[in-house]
Amino acid sequence: MKVLIATQKPFAAVAVEGIKKILTEAGHEVVLFEKYAEQADFVKAVADAEALIIRSDKVTAEVIAAAPKLKIVVRAGAGYDNVDLEAASARKIVVMNTPGQNSNAVAELAVALMIFMARTQFTPATGSEIQGKTLGIQAFGAVGRLVGAKAKALGMKVKALDPFLTDEQIAAGGAEPVHTLDELYSGSDYVSLHIPALPSTIGSINYELITKMPKGATLVNTARKEVIDEAGLEKALTERPDLKYVTDVAPDNFAALQEKFGLRVFATPKKMGAQTSEANINAGLAAARQIVDFFATGNAKFQVNKW
Ligand code: 3PG
Repeated sequence: MKVLIATQKPFAAVAVEGIKKILTEAGHEVVLFEKYAEQADFVKAVADAEALIIRSDKVTAEVIAAAPKLKIVVRAGAGYDNVDLEAASARKIVVMNTPGQNSNAVAELAVALMIFMARTQFTPATGSEIQGKTLGIQAFGAVGRLVGAKAKALGMKVKALDPFLTDEQIAAGGAEPVHTLDELYSGSDYVSLHIPALPSTIGSINYELITKMPKGATLVNTARKEVIDEAGLEKALTERPDLKYVTDVAPDNFAALQEKFGLRVFATPKKMGAQTSEANINAGLAAARQIVDFFATGNAKFQVNKW
């Protein structure tokens, strides 16, 4: 089968080598398509692809229509909001992710961003310590649990909210369960977001929630920029000069925020949570193995779409 690795943000070279090895040893042909400039180039590149490995690359209905032989798309990572599942399902194209494979990298970045903000973006201004502070984790999945464990090791108190988990499951993950957003936001010096971008979560982190945070609190977003209500965030930061926002995914109004709020806001220049060679190797190789297995045995364990 012809497998296209389409990554606008490439995997580390060592991961690409490993992916190629797994696929070619199983008899597949591999084409590498990295750092493309335009979405239109991606649309052209999929013409004869039978399988796709992607990261945050946008597999739109147009991409799917341009790939008549496509049978499987594996998102090497967790979030699959960049894939048009409906368009894929209509063609019975299997879409998978590689859950957990890049979680540690994202969790380490979330902790790093907390410390970076606590220490006023590594400027000489007097900062604060995270030890003894309370961290509220919104969604206690693979990344949330790792953030919690690392924060605990650094002396933080950790709470978590996750409507899909029982109190026992949250406690087993090392966090104190909380049951409402109000409780989470009002009781946390740091709130770390680990929710996916879904119709129900997009724009859900709004002025009301953000302003529930206690004095001096910081909102940490290594999830998706879409979950933030950007106007609400700006209003909250304007009215509450004690609040801070740090994110791996710059909001559209980031230039305005930076101009208005200076060191109280920070965004990485490019989404980099999963950008470690370890995460690239884990997620990339898992994607390659899932494709090999799918074509060899029909195994679709990590399929995320249905028809
Ligand atoms: C994910 O959903 O796995 C992360 O956001 C990583 O995205 P990336 O592969 O584009 O870095």
